Amino acid sequence: MAGKKLSPESQMIPHQVNPEWYLKSIKEPIFQTSTYKFDTAEEGEKFFQRVYGGKEHATGDRTKLIYSRFTYPNLISLESKFKHWDHGEDCAFFNTGMAAISTVFFSILKPGDLILKSEPIYGGSDSFIKGFLKSYGIEHVPFSPKDSMPRILKRIAGAKKKIKMAFIETPCNPTNDLIDIQMISEICDGFSRGKDTVPLVVDNTFLGPVGQRPADHGADLTVYSASKYIGGHGDLVAGVVSGKMNLIQDIKALRYSLGNMVEPNTAWLLNRSLETLKLRMDRQCESAELIADYLDSHSGIEKVKYLGLKKNLSKKELQIANNQCLTNGAMISFELKGGKPKAFKFLNSLSVIRLAVSLGGTESNASHPWTMSHSNVKEKDRKKWGITPGLVRLSVGVEDPTDLIRDIKKSLAKAGID
Ligand SMILES: Cc1ncc(COP(=O)(O)O)c(C=O)c1O
Repeated sequence: MAGKKLSPESQMIPHQVNPEWYLKSIKEPIFQTSTYKFDTAEEGEKFFQRVYGGKEHATGDRTKLIYSRFTYPNLISLESKFKHWDHGEDCAFFNTGMAAISTVFFSILKPGDLILKSEPIYGGSDSFIKGFLKSYGIEHVPFSPKDSMPRILKRIAGAKKKIKMAFIETPCNPTNDLIDIQMISEICDGFSRGKDTVPLVVDNTFLGPVGQRPADHGADLTVYSASKYIGGHGDLVAGVVSGKMNLIQDIKALRYSLGNMVEPNTAWLLNRSLETLKLRMDRQCESAELIADYLDSHSGIEKVKYLGLKKNLSKKELQIANNQCLTNGAMISFELKGGKPKAFKFLNSLSVIRLAVSLGGTESNASHPWTMSHSNVKEKDRKKWGITPGLVRLSVGVEDPTDLIRDIKKSLAKAGID
């Protein structure tokens, strides 16, 4: 193995950051403590100098352990492992995905700034940008997955200001539309001047770390709702951002102040989940392919959007998928003939698949974006983005795909969709 780097999935298996912290146990304990004892006052002084001085120190360094809002062993092992998936220089975990996303915005932007933003995006991020950030004087220029580079540049020029950051979600929630990460990275580079860079932030929640590595295509930061594939068992909420060291250092400093880091019990669960991340996601993607094929062959379904259904992708989408997506994911969106009444009947008839929002867990969930996750988006925007009353979003879990297909078939029949 000499000279050969371990693959990310091997690096997710527990390793002892500092064996003395764990009594050499194979699985690390939960460090359910708010603070750590100093041997002397001099030691306390030295530890604080390191934390507030921002000095880099070794991962297993005892000087990191002061108070759990700064860091603690479960968080250190989590962050030292996860960054390998994304090819990030460092990463920071938060108590929710929205905490990760909002802290990234606050760390980079100030009132009066302008950002570039793709549409559609998750409803929570959308209302944060259009409501909260706007009230702080931060405006945005929207663009759609169909827009070309000249068109996006024209939109920015129309705002008569330079952009300070770009935020994109690809594949988009819930439509599975794709955005070319490299193209947006080039736009950001065009507005960067020396050290004054314009970071590109990509929400990679929908494909997850196994399905896409935005950093390889020019993203400076990659954010996730870790409540989804990363946690993966539908039993926690968390968020993470990975990427360039200098940006993550600023984000961690802000996290100290906001106090919105993930807590020890959840960090322990996330460490456990990382061990099976690839295994779970591989299975989920395999099952999703079978289910998407079934849905696509059903006459009662208007349209199925799934990255594995290549014939349903445009030429541009196909090119982007081949270039930047490592898997087809496990998220399927499909349009039922008969709109909201049929969609509700179908959802109410499911028994194996749960009628619930969230995604990426071991359990399969189906939801209705029009009235649920995206109901806070203006109706005209939902329509423009292809979020229609007949649209159903399905997150495929690890159950036997035959059972899932049987559940879908039965529920379509019960809803009178033949
Ligand atoms: C794409 C995407 N980004 C961010 C979030 C927010 O994450 P959380 O619910 O963990 O705060 C979600 C939640 O559904 C999401 O789907």
